[in-house]
Amino acid sequence: MDEVNKRFESMAALVDEASLLLDAQSIVVQANEKALTLLGNYIIGYPIDRFLRHADFAEAVRMAHEDGRPSSLDYTLMDQVRRSFTLRIARFDEVHVMLVIFDGTMSLSVDRIRSDFVANVSHELRSPLTALSGFIETLQDGAIDDGESRDRFLTIMRAEAGRMQRLIDDLLSLSRVEAEEHRPPDDTVAILPVLRELVSAMRDEAAKNGKTLSVNLADELADADLLVRGAQDELRQVFQNLVENAVRYGAPETTISILLSTGRLAGGQLRENLLRVQVVNQGETIAPEHLARLTERFYRIDKGRSRQFGGTGLGLAIVKHIVNRHRGRLRISSEDGQTTVSVTLPRIFQQ
Ligand SMILES: Nc1ncnc2c1ncn2[C@@H]1O[C@H](COP(=O)(O)OP(=O)(O)O)[C@@H](O)[C@H]1O
Ligand SMILES: [Mg+2]
Repeated sequence: MDEVNKRFESMAALVDEASLLLDAQSIVVQANEKALTLLGNYIIGYPIDRFLRHADFAEAVRMAHEDGRPSSLDYTLMDQVRRSFTLRIARFDEVHVMLVIFDGTMSLSVDRIRSDFVANVSHELRSPLTALSGFIETLQDGAIDDGESRDRFLTIMRAEAGRMQRLIDDLLSLSRVEAEEHRPPDDTVAILPVLRELVSAMRDEAAKNGKTLSVNLADELADADLLVRGAQDELRQVFQNLVENAVRYGAPETTISILLSTGRLAGGQLRENLLRVQVVNQGETIAPEHLARLTERFYRIDKGRSRQFGGTGLGLAIVKHIVNRHRGRLRISSEDGQTTVSVTLPRIFQQ
């Protein structure tokens, strides 16, 4: 393996781009620094399709393995800005293929990227603003003298103004966490009180939606101090977003559980230095093509439904950036009507 690693490292250094070595099952066995920065710190040992979903990817890996034919795929990631990558896959040796990810974002003009984002934001702000202007006009045209419609219009106007407010608040949060993303937080946070306090603050809201909230500890954690390296207000924001989503999109008359356990590798081995917090809700199964995109800005499976609950489509984008800043991992899965959002954070132990 040593020889393979060395050869991989020198090739990765040569291309100077995000590079990975995959085995025959497409499990990541090696990755350089740029690949870890792009795809996350915990990719080694996991199947690559967890981090890169592309319809033709499996076929390209197969071709590289079996026929030794290299391939090139285009890959677009809709993050805060559109990022486009070229994936190149080629045989490395008998058992491995090498994947190199060329970031083509810079070649998209900077103006274009900026204008995409501005267009999105403008579009999101325009609809409440249009509604507001419309009602103001209607009121001025006489509705103001009709007590009943006036009250109804004012209620709607207030809701629309609230929507603009939330959008602006979320945009500011996002830009703040993004600006700090490369500077990990250094406070010690006791996670359990944060979660308990959050649950009691949200209990009524959940009950209105017919849901019960519970916090549960895995046996192995029962008497330990659960401390993580982090920023308390940001972690609170993460779990508030996740519980809010579970309350909004989960099925009525169900329980939303927050489960704490020791982090785990794909094979199930415990990782004592990681703490995993899972927010689990019952409801519709999210299709894989949506799952992979939920953390993109403004991505919503059902815009109308999200809007009805006051959603902005930015919640999970904020969550992702905060988790990244904490050098943690975010994973969303959905199966048999159960959706689990799992946040794994570096744990600290007080001596
Ligand atoms: N627990 C969940 N169950 C089902 N769908 C979810 C869940 N959490 C998030 N989603 C989907 O992901 C989308 C994006 O979530 P988010 O970024 O928090 O935005 P928002 O909640 O404002 O719409 C939601 O609109 C919804 O379609
Ligand atoms: Mg949300």
